[in-house]
Amino acid sequence: MKIGLIIAIDGTAASGKGTISKKIAQNYSVPHLDTGLLYRLVGYKVLQGVDPVSAASQLRADELKVLDLKTLRVSNAASEVAKNPAVRAHLLEFQRDFASKPGGAVLDGRDIGTVICPNAHIKFFITASPDIRAQRRYKELLGLGHSISFENVLREIQERDERDSNRKQSPMVPAVDAIKIDTSDMTINEVYESVSKIIDSKLEN
Ligand code: DC
Repeated sequence: MKIGLIIAIDGTAASGKGTISKKIAQNYSVPHLDTGLLYRLVGYKVLQGVDPVSAASQLRADELKVLDLKTLRVSNAASEVAKNPAVRAHLLEFQRDFASKPGGAVLDGRDIGTVICPNAHIKFFITASPDIRAQRRYKELLGLGHSISFENVLREIQERDERDSNRKQSPMVPAVDAIKIDTSDMTINEVYESVSKIIDSKLEN
């Protein structure tokens, strides 16, 4: 089934937006773009000494899956390069192209509902308390074999929230028409259930 909907899922770092987006993509058979990975890839290149703007202009989609882009160093570098308007301008085109697929798409990030796809059919803004998000990310990173402390994960999340929401260019902010979900006291299945009810009712109308 081609649902033909563009679904924008914005939210804070480690809020569960990625997991929810993947589940939507799987269950509704729509392509998914984790836009954070684009910034992570640019951040990764910058840590290797590449200029941020040339890294963004030469972005190769095949690199998104092969590099280890989930480390705290890369998260921070991603959030730093995300302040750069020229970097954002290069990545905007890639994201809009992805969203223009005829069968629909789900994109998750920080500015999907506000800047990348302001006409998205459904917009969500997902968040949770910093402590809960840090616990989730800490477990995820431990599972991936990273050696880190909970305190560092919490600090990194708080610094990133601050930087992402206070930058001048496309700051992280819920779109006025976004449905806000606080997942602090919810399981992923509960979040998915409420999100999919909203998608289903949109599909019926
Ligand atoms: O979603 P994420 O945690 O993987 O994103 C990493 C960083 O990339 C985030 O801290 C800010 C930046 N980002 C952004 O500025 N705009 C997006 N649409 C997605 C991510």
